[in-house]
Amino acid sequence: MKRVAFVGCGGIMQEHYKHLSVMDGVKMVGHCDIIKERAESAADRFGGEVFTEFEPMYDKVKPHAVFIAVPPYAHCGMEEAAAERGIHLLIEKPIAIDRDTARRIAAAIRKAKILASVGYCFRYYDTVELARKLLKGKAISLITGRWNGGMPGVWWWRRMDKSGGQIIEQTTHMFDLMRYLCGDVAEVYAVGATGCMTRVEDYDVHDSSAVTMRMKNGATAAITSSCVCNNGGQVSLDIITPEATVSMAGGTLTVRENGRTTEYHPSVNMYEEEDKAFIEAVQAGKRARIRSLYSDALKSFLVTWAANESIRSGMPIKP
Ligand SMILES: NC(=O)c1ccc[n+]([C@@H]2O[C@H](COP(=O)([O-])OP(=O)(O)OC[C@H]3O[C@@H](n4cnc5c(N)ncnc54)[C@H](O)[C@@H]3O)[C@@H](O)[C@H]2O)c1
Repeated sequence: MKRVAFVGCGGIMQEHYKHLSVMDGVKMVGHCDIIKERAESAADRFGGEVFTEFEPMYDKVKPHAVFIAVPPYAHCGMEEAAAERGIHLLIEKPIAIDRDTARRIAAAIRKAKILASVGYCFRYYDTVELARKLLKGKAISLITGRWNGGMPGVWWWRRMDKSGGQIIEQTTHMFDLMRYLCGDVAEVYAVGATGCMTRVEDYDVHDSSAVTMRMKNGATAAITSSCVCNNGGQVSLDIITPEATVSMAGGTLTVRENGRTTEYHPSVNMYEEEDKAFIEAVQAGKRARIRSLYSDALKSFLVTWAANESIRSGMPIKP
């Protein structure tokens, strides 16, 4: 039986609770949130003790693994404290808002040799695995992606110093999916717009942005974001090769080749797969089916950080 604890019992943690609460071999032993009622609510539903600080929780309930789902600005030592104690981690994306924090956590994880999975959940769709197989060996020419939608409701999202903005917090999923399917990024140039979101208080993130990239394999890429798109948003990625155009929208894969269009729909819940893969890895003591390790998530984070830096400086940036 693996003892699992939780730091940050807000929105997305409810998704993890849903899957872990019905999973064999898992015992929920502790819930930590600076808003005590949230930890209490989880403990009432799933069992385990209530905490408002992570170190006392780690020391008292001695978990084998911890799920961390705090806002991007709030990575204030919970990963390093777990690593020091040999506790394995599943950490929600984005891993941080600044490079120093992300690199410090990466070093602590490396030193402690713990497992650290990052919540790039799209990687767990079976259709994404199929897309990877279809793209293998093909010369990728162009990648276009987008996360054009509305503004999430959590208070911290609209503050650059709390969320890092839409590129770091949300569109990071598309940057990561692009890296998973098409390889690494060599250079980033980005522009961002402000001024459309006039009725939201305490708001200083970009309304929209466009990030162009040179990929290491020579392909060109462009990913846009918008949080003012309240009428028909789109979250998708298109990959163009001479032989085929491969598109992911949500979990649906569309392949256009030889004059034919074929759609593949996912047969799995991506969050459930992500959680199962992590728990299996903790049980086995090795990476097993984890598809996003911290060391790789760091690379996706650095691309999004470079995009913000390019918007700020007006210069191309190597991530
Ligand atoms: N993978 C996905 O699909 C997905 C979806 C939504 C959110 N997320 C990510 O999950 C993270 C959390 O997002 P959310 O929507 O659940 O936010 P949320 O605000 O609903 O929940 C975050 C919780 O963390 C708590 N918290 C803050 N600082 C803390 C600390 N120092 N110690 C303990 N608890 C603390 C808050 O009180 C809150 O309850 C974000 O990084 C977000 O990007 C991922």
